[in-house]
Amino acid sequence: MGKMMKVVGGVVLAAFVAGAAIAAGKDEVTYEKDVKEIISARCLFCHGSNAPTIEEFDKDKEGFKGKMKGPRIDTYSNLMALVNGSDTGALMRRLDDGKNAKDGNPGNMNKYLGATDEEKAKNLGVIKRWVGGWTLKRKKEITEDELKAIKSLER
Ligand code: HEC
Repeated sequence: MGKMMKVVGGVVLAAFVAGAAIAAGKDEVTYEKDVKEIISARCLFCHGSNAPTIEEFDKDKEGFKGKMKGPRIDTYSNLMALVNGSDTGALMRRLDDGKNAKDGNPGNMNKYLGATDEEKAKNLGVIKRWVGGWTLKRKKEITEDELKAIKSLER
């Protein structure tokens, strides 16, 4: 009888833990649910499917700059190259509001985040929560722990 109760208790606890995990997942910021629409509304005019891949862009930065084209960030994997991939931290450096920077200057893409300061701050907030461990460090400076702190869930 006592043994039976233990088993039942275990099942109840397991169900409770699973339920809590699902509830937490719902509040989690994801690319599909929250980030894609911001990027698509605010960035794809210059970073869309007709823009260069990051490899193409790196070979001719000045040329693409002149054409007002930045690297493609039109898919999750293209965007991730600028989060924790070949150009680690680029998204964070360019979008940062500068409040924690020594010079206080925002990144040069921050202005595109919204038409008003409120909209910029709101969209930056969503992207910051999505990234998780917000760091401006480059690939060669970032630590293992800092890389692990970047969550950036796809869905
Ligand atoms: C009006 C065009 C335009 C818009 C809109 C725009 N960008 Fe850019 N972006 C560029 C250009 C041109 C470059 C390359 C020149 C430079 O590095 O500043 C660039 C560069 C970047 C880079 C650096 C890429 C690298 O590897 O060096 C990032 C990251 C970036 N943009 C993110 C964004 C995000 C996110 C948005 C939307 C919030 C956005 N941009 C909106 C034109 C734009």
